[in-house]
Amino acid sequence: MKKTGMVGWRGMVGSVLMERMMAQNDFEKITPVFFTTSQAGQKAPDVGKETSALIDAHDIDALMEMDIIISCQGGGYTEAVRPKLAENGWKGFWIDAASTLRMADDSIIVLDPVNRKVIDEALDRGIKNYIGGNCTVSLMLMALGGLFENDVVEWLTSMTYQAASGAGAKNMTELVAQMRAIGDAAAPILDDPAAAILDLDRKVTETLRSDTFPTANWGVPLGASLIPWIDRAMENGQTREEWKGFVETNKILGRSDLPVPIDGQCVRIGSMRCHSQAFTIKLKKEVPLAEIEAMLASNNDWVKVIPNTKDQTVTELTPAAVTGTLTVPVGRIRKMTLGQDYLTAFSVGDQLLWGAAEPLRRILNIIL
Ligand code: HSE
Repeated sequence: MKKTGMVGWRGMVGSVLMERMMAQNDFEKITPVFFTTSQAGQKAPDVGKETSALIDAHDIDALMEMDIIISCQGGGYTEAVRPKLAENGWKGFWIDAASTLRMADDSIIVLDPVNRKVIDEALDRGIKNYIGGNCTVSLMLMALGGLFENDVVEWLTSMTYQAASGAGAKNMTELVAQMRAIGDAAAPILDDPAAAILDLDRKVTETLRSDTFPTANWGVPLGASLIPWIDRAMENGQTREEWKGFVETNKILGRSDLPVPIDGQCVRIGSMRCHSQAFTIKLKKEVPLAEIEAMLASNNDWVKVIPNTKDQTVTELTPAAVTGTLTVPVGRIRKMTLGQDYLTAFSVGDQLLWGAAEPLRRILNIIL
């Protein structure tokens, strides 16, 4: 059985990965070795089989013994450790959630329901770095994979509604703390049946703008507001999150030399862990709606086409409905009034599952 080093398994993405690996009995197929940055020598987590005590995640000799390493530890760790393993001639497989190596020539971005062919060719070529994609990109491709598979997309825009989890656990906690601060401040007015709505509104606004409103992580209010900026600035006015939409999508599809133009605006909203996206898609040709829906539905086992009705949309195409599941619903599908070759659609997906942990778990199984 392959010795598989697990690094960063206690963080948010790592914990979701551990849950999925337990649920799918993946630990039965490997010899897991757990690494730590702070608790070497302590007991490893219980995964239903004998494991050694925790090993220091910077112990290069111990890492060199692994056949496979899965890191959810973050980009700093990847930068510090991956080159050292290479210098020492390590020949194992490096599976990583961090973005550090995504665009490197000797790395593949993994999303096997969409790019299994690209992955298989890379394995044949001896590529050793398999990196999880940006969550928004992976969720977009899980939803729209059928359109790319049939090569009907001339260009597309994705306008995103991204969850707090994409910014990390502390940010999720702070979002809920913000909601509580708003709820606490508004409670006396909410509880007064005779209260005027503008009084309630004034109280919420005053709370959002107060010096004591919890914003240490977000910098600004997110609850009862939104933040139209994700990640750092690029030189062309895009944010890095928006830039990734173009470069990573085309790399995943193995068509960086003939890229599909993709751009949009990435916006943080107050959902917990589901990213949503509204698409405008310019088709290469007029394709009937029924054919479009068939292409979308048949691309992978997790995408689910939601009929464009109010009832099904509001019950099935929301973060509240999707969170914690692997289903990627895509709905609001219709031709736009702009013309028969303009399509719009909306999708929702759990950014910790298909957006982070699941592609890593699946590439592990493919390598095994
Ligand atoms: N960058 C994403 C976000 C999460 O901030 O939502 C990770 O891909």
